[in-house]
Amino acid sequence: MKISIIGTGYVGLVTGACFAELGNTVICADNNSKKISSLKKCIIPIYEPGLEELVKINVKKKRLIFTTSVREAVVNSEVIFIAVGTPSLDNGEADLTGVENVARNIALNLNGYRLIVEKSTVPVETGKWVKHTIATYVKRNIKFDIASNPEFLREGQAINDFMHPDRIVIGVESKKARDILVSLYEPLNAPMVVTDIKSAELIKHASNSFLATKISFINAISHICEKVGADVVEVAQGMGLDKRIGPGFLNAGIGYGGSCFPKDVDAFISIAEKLGCNLDLLDAVKAVNEQQKSLFISKIKDLLWIIKDKTIGVLGLSFKPNTDDIRNAPSIDIIKSLQAEGAKIKIYDPSSMEKAEELLDKVKFCKDPYETCKGSDCLLVVTEWDEFKELDFSKVKKMLKRPFVIDGRNIYEPERMKKLGFTYIGIGRGRRS
Ligand code: UDX
Repeated sequence: MKISIIGTGYVGLVTGACFAELGNTVICADNNSKKISSLKKCIIPIYEPGLEELVKINVKKKRLIFTTSVREAVVNSEVIFIAVGTPSLDNGEADLTGVENVARNIALNLNGYRLIVEKSTVPVETGKWVKHTIATYVKRNIKFDIASNPEFLREGQAINDFMHPDRIVIGVESKKARDILVSLYEPLNAPMVVTDIKSAELIKHASNSFLATKISFINAISHICEKVGADVVEVAQGMGLDKRIGPGFLNAGIGYGGSCFPKDVDAFISIAEKLGCNLDLLDAVKAVNEQQKSLFISKIKDLLWIIKDKTIGVLGLSFKPNTDDIRNAPSIDIIKSLQAEGAKIKIYDPSSMEKAEELLDKVKFCKDPYETCKGSDCLLVVTEWDEFKELDFSKVKKMLKRPFVIDGRNIYEPERMKKLGFTYIGIGRGRRS
């Protein structure tokens, strides 16, 4: 099929490259001309394993084309995906200015039937507004359809998630739109949920809010574990084996971050408020997530008492492993709070130190985990990168001033750390005095 994707951010670029890999001809359009000229040279602006190769192969095969012209994209494709950003406004609501702009631009260039698909994460009823906008601005009486097809890609494994999804959600209001999207996704051989547009839009916000709820739930349980001396990892394992609960997203830690969960939870709360529905549950999810960071700081104080003038080594920065993304990473808030109390911070992260330079002042970026340990009063783990799981602990112990490890991602076994001579504190792992 001939497809175009408007918006070459994270979602748009991965979607475009993957559709091209499936044999479609894909035009990716973006109004950022710098980005487009880089992409034409196969320079990828984001860190995503496998994406660069996919782009290179498909550009070479002329199945993936980059342009700054929405007109070129609209005129030369049968299906148009809207994948522009929907950032949060100050009140938590999603800013749909980009979506509205693109809808108008599509309308002005429409020269025949097209299927226009919302791919960006948008509030329920955006489809209705996109349809209204296109109908308002379209020049002649040209027919078009609207659909919703939310993405569920995780950073760091987006290509695998695209190629092997748990499900594909398609929200449509005509048989024609349904047939186009079903045949486009048929090669993936994945379960498809075909529904109306509003239900599809809701599936996305409801799914991400539910996953955030799962994380906050287990984080809240971790507090109880600490009070009574239980182990949240084992509690989660025992819960997760129940098929109705499932084992995923039950890792207690310093809270969720990233570009999706915080934004989507806020947007969903604001949608519910507007509709007069009660979603107080999600306010609690947010509150627990915030609390995880202050509880982590209090664990540091339990060990060091006074933070001022202490050197604290930090392993990790990105909001999760296998990405360089530090948007809403809990690490940033934690580091800033420690600095506010006068701590000196040393950091090592395999991928995101460059990005963090813009956000963090007066920290020492280290070349490896051991340099981070050297002379530090305690060591914090804030991102569960694989390379932190395999450290040489005798070296770590020698380099730290005191053998204090506070593990915000529960990557080490408390018993083993104790045997190795560390004072080890995880999240929800045994009694905290
Ligand atoms: C998420 C959704 O998973 C994806 O479907 C959606 O399209 C975009 O948002 P992503 O933001 O890439 O993807 O990250 P994800 O792997 O879901 O993790 C989100 C956050 O939750 C991370 O900060 C992670 O550390 C945290 N998390 C996850 C936990 O704290 N505990 C867990 O058990 C799982």
